[in-house]
Amino acid sequence: MVTQGPRLNPFQPDAPARASIFSGRTPELKSIETAIVDTLRGHPSHVLIVGERGMGKTSLARYVENLAQSPAVWGAAGVDVGPAVLFVSLGFSATIPDACAAILSEAYRWAQQRGPSMVTWFQNELSKLEGVSVGFFGVTAAVKAGGNTLPWAFPGALESFVQRSEKAASGLVIILDETESIAADPQFAPFIKSLLETLGQRRVNTVQLVVTATPEGRDRMNSAHPSFSRLFRPLNVGRLADSEVRVLVHKALQEGWPKKTADEAFLSSMCVFASGIPGFVHEIGKATFDVDTDNHLTEADFTQGVIGTDQVVGAMDVLEQKHFMERYSKKVLSNSYREVLHAMALAERDLKRAEIPTEEIRKRCPTVTQPGPYLANMVKRGVISRVDGKRGTYQLPDRMFYAFLLLGGTRRSRKAAHL
Ligand SMILES: Nc1ncnc2c1ncn2[C@@H]1O[C@H](COP(=O)(O)OP(=O)(O)O)[C@@H](O)[C@H]1O
Ligand SMILES: [Mg+2]
Repeated sequence: MVTQGPRLNPFQPDAPARASIFSGRTPELKSIETAIVDTLRGHPSHVLIVGERGMGKTSLARYVENLAQSPAVWGAAGVDVGPAVLFVSLGFSATIPDACAAILSEAYRWAQQRGPSMVTWFQNELSKLEGVSVGFFGVTAAVKAGGNTLPWAFPGALESFVQRSEKAASGLVIILDETESIAADPQFAPFIKSLLETLGQRRVNTVQLVVTATPEGRDRMNSAHPSFSRLFRPLNVGRLADSEVRVLVHKALQEGWPKKTADEAFLSSMCVFASGIPGFVHEIGKATFDVDTDNHLTEADFTQGVIGTDQVVGAMDVLEQKHFMERYSKKVLSNSYREVLHAMALAERDLKRAEIPTEEIRKRCPTVTQPGPYLANMVKRGVISRVDGKRGTYQLPDRMFYAFLLLGGTRRSRKAAHL
């Protein structure tokens, strides 16, 4: 066997997809492109990207960052320079002043790339903002007991940024990712709404917001401000099609080292079990790539990768740690419950729909003869839900949980399900 260079596992569950392996999302990208062009023409069009965790929001948002900077896109708006694009992760922003500071930090970085006069100007502007300081690590907002005035001054700061950068940038695209925790602040949605309104009133018409959110985050922001969603063009990132999963695996295997191939059984298992969730494709892909020894991925490698070996941590264990501890493993302790859940996933797969009648669950339980009480208890604990208006019909909360259960759930329930 010829070996060359260091091993390189091309599946990276914790990093946004590189452009070279990015798959699918063609209609979504087209729609975002239109929104960027509209904005640069002076008709701002904001985008809300909604998807479950692991579905590819950050990857899509990163792709948008590149898209907005590509001459083909801003050229279509008839402008001769691209917009300033700020990619802002709000994962560490607990308050609205923090979020404002995070955005200004990225703006500051942008200014640094434009040269000293822009930096001096920006430092000057920032010094006018109360409680804001610029340090080695960027812009920070001081925490103050009596509240912070930064949110009020913020639209003005953006306005002057846009005016000042007019020659170097044809507009401003602000991408807000990781909004999970800030969305829990009931003031966030009203803040965004008033920010966009203020910019509109001041005729700052070339600023675009691209926000990512989980469905729960979106719902929270909507209930904090009912017209929140109406500010945005909604975009759902859902499951990849089987053909897109195959393309993803294929492109990834081309980039890894050593080069590997995958047989048909491997690919079709990947399609069934990852069920179109990119994060699952990468998690399973990573483990199977490590498990394999002959550079050809087969069904046996698939199973080993999912379950794990002495050397390689199985994809299921990683997924359980990352996503299912709180809502599943800690709440559903006995194998009977797990059997019932596994039966729900099997029924969903067979019936090709998410709403499952008790009878269909019973049919698929090897040992539990009366699933009813187990189902009722799991509804109480928030593991599954009843379907409104349909007696004795239940559903799993999301696609990710479905795929996890189909794979066999935890080590213990995999034994129970003979996987
Ligand atoms: N369109 C895509 N093509 C290929 N891989 C993707 C795609 N979207 C997401 N991924 C991969 O799936 C995983 C989860 O994606 P990520 O963008 O972090 O999801 P989210 O932000 O929704 O949690 C990452 O490994 C990422 O590289
Ligand atoms: Mg993300």
